Amino acid sequence: MPEPIVFQTASEMRAWSRAQHLSGKRIGFVPTMGALHDGHASLFRKARELSDAVAISIFVNPTQFGPGEDFEKYPRTLVADLEIAGKQGVAAVFTPGPAFYPQGYRAQVVIPEWNHLWEGALRPVHFDGVASVVTKLFHSVECDVAVFGQKDAQQALLLRRMVRDLDFAVQLVIAPIVREADGLALSSRNRYLSSTDRMRALSLSRALLAAAVRWEAGERSPRALLEAGRQILSQTPPDAIDYFSFVDPDTLACIDDAPNIETSALLTVAARYGSTRLIDNKAFGPVWD
Ligand code: PAJ
Repeated sequence: MPEPIVFQTASEMRAWSRAQHLSGKRIGFVPTMGALHDGHASLFRKARELSDAVAISIFVNPTQFGPGEDFEKYPRTLVADLEIAGKQGVAAVFTPGPAFYPQGYRAQVVIPEWNHLWEGALRPVHFDGVASVVTKLFHSVECDVAVFGQKDAQQALLLRRMVRDLDFAVQLVIAPIVREADGLALSSRNRYLSSTDRMRALSLSRALLAAAVRWEAGERSPRALLEAGRQILSQTPPDAIDYFSFVDPDTLACIDDAPNIETSALLTVAARYGSTRLIDNKAFGPVWD
């Protein structure tokens, strides 16, 4: 596979995209913050299936990190990332520099209320940063289809609503979570885990699975499903659990106390092991269809 072409400015990136469009190609796009792993690679392959030329972005976006979060520490592995992208047939990589945010940058895309629920309750600037940078990236790449991961479920739900409400001419595809053989969801942050915490962190995916097993057996009560998960979580408890809850994908409301899950729900968990915070989730019913 040839090395992807790297563009550092939005205007160079857009010129490439317009040339692709002129030659009749459909562009697939996968935004990332780098430190690429097989989860990202699966999105690149999905984008290839759905388009004729794939672009990705690698940009550790400062505006989605709050004070005291890991912006400085976030892993930056560009050389290895370009190799992974090349192997998956990515044609172009957009790596904007600090000039992506011009002096005096102010405008933002905000998805009110949803931006302050769940992850947003703990990270109040996070989703404004994500929605705004994804908008800027879409304007730079002018893609036809963009692929995101179910791993960041709230991000995917917010972006799906943004694209619909603001008439973005982009088809969003939300692809499944890639996991290690033992169930741990792949994440750029897993590399921060000590080997003991890496073992302990397995209880997240196992708790989701225990609830899924009950769901498959016909259980529809959120309380009962949560109880099955909590039993597993309590065997190797994380250092802190921010939430372990059922979320209605249409409203983002907590439905832990609903009598039954009517059509679909997301079981989401966020927990900390040492100083590493991990998130995971599982769809119950047709959340992403
Ligand atoms: P990043 O964390 O690099 O993730 C990029 C994409 O990869 C996201 O859509 C995420 O959901 C997906 N992803 C991460 N781990 C995955 C896994 N194990 N399986 C499948 N997909 C996975 O999400 C971001 O970057 C940023 O917020 C971004 C959208 C790029 C905006 O800055």
